Amino acid sequence: MNDFEMNLRKDFPILNDSFAYLDNAATSQKPLSVIQAVEDYYKTSNANPLRGIYDLSVAATEKYEAARLSVKKFINASKKAEIVFTRNATESVNLVAYSYGMSFINEGDEIIVSILEHHSNMLPWQNVAKAKNATLKYLYCDENGVINPSDLEELITDKTALVAITQVSNVIGRTNDIKSFAKIAHEYGAVILCDGAQSVPHMKVDVTDLDVDFLVFSGHKMLAPMGIGVLYGKSELLKKMPPFLYGGEMIESVTVDGATFARIPTKFEAGTVNVGGAVGLHAAIDYINNITMDEIVKREEELTKYAYERMSEIKHLTIIGSEDYKEHHGIITFDIDDCHPHDVADILGGLGVDVRAGHHCAQPLLKHIGHPVTTRASIAFYNVKEDIDRLIDALKGVRRTLGYGE
Ligand SMILES: Cc1ncc(COP(=O)(O)O)c(C=O)c1O
Repeated sequence: MNDFEMNLRKDFPILNDSFAYLDNAATSQKPLSVIQAVEDYYKTSNANPLRGIYDLSVAATEKYEAARLSVKKFINASKKAEIVFTRNATESVNLVAYSYGMSFINEGDEIIVSILEHHSNMLPWQNVAKAKNATLKYLYCDENGVINPSDLEELITDKTALVAITQVSNVIGRTNDIKSFAKIAHEYGAVILCDGAQSVPHMKVDVTDLDVDFLVFSGHKMLAPMGIGVLYGKSELLKKMPPFLYGGEMIESVTVDGATFARIPTKFEAGTVNVGGAVGLHAAIDYINNITMDEIVKREEELTKYAYERMSEIKHLTIIGSEDYKEHHGIITFDIDDCHPHDVADILGGLGVDVRAGHHCAQPLLKHIGHPVTTRASIAFYNVKEDIDRLIDALKGVRRTLGYGE
């Protein structure tokens, strides 16, 4: 470990040499600056925001709106009002499905969902298709997880109302060419929702350049606390969409007969909002900007290369997806001959190597690529080669522990 890495790891109080945290695709660890920003908020500025006119409430409101501005800049949205705070990526997709989907997708329309999707970007669309008598069409990938823009061109028609697709697969790490998908969707008059849960924490994502209509992501996968997520939506779409949840400050006025609603984004933020979470997300973005996204990309690419090369040398271990480490973006999902992934993860866990086993909330994808359950190691920039070495040593002993010899 070099000096830079030792200092970097000191930023993350939970990390120490007794374990290797390699489940970063599930959630990231939190730097001290994020933990302190949340603590500071509760110690100095906590009050119910938006509604109070006393100093503390104004301070809470200012912190909340400053967080929104920082997200706007981070993803290069054109307006602050295009940033809606939610609980997580799942809630963001549901917001679009219940509000946009139930209002603007009609009987006979088509919804295209890629087979790569996490259930969070699949189930809401299955639900809309069922409720609205729309047709759900799947965009399939090849065995390496590749979906080309030409595949979308073959599937899309004038009846397609919405395309839902992830930027980076949480199972095989593959990146989709979202800019090309958006262009094709728009040529057919469809809107496109991009799931950025696995991309926004790990690469520069510019919604203006990508020209997506909606982008969803979770704070907890990018150094922020759990319970804060983001929906980006183009303002012309958000403005015409009805509220998703009702109550609290999302109104303009209410009578016994009904209500008119606040402007965007407040219209979509019913009830008391998560200011502490937003403050944490702001601090997380500051941390990422400080270390720089270029450095994060560089470190994660180097670690992925190292892990991919060393894992490729292990007998009986098959890495799922591309044979090019650059296509994995820190996510290496694998099988070990004869060994159930839960056994693998259990043995690794006992040796202080934290990985994920199971279907990764992407059952249709795993069925499609013929690996119903797998084990996944996922890397973040604060990992070090020693974490990978620990993983490799543990992996080498798995078959022996389960009685299969070498
Ligand atoms: C690609 C992708 N989309 C959506 C989600 C859902 O995220 P959350 O549980 O934070 O809503 C995940 C979580 O793992 C994911 O990997």
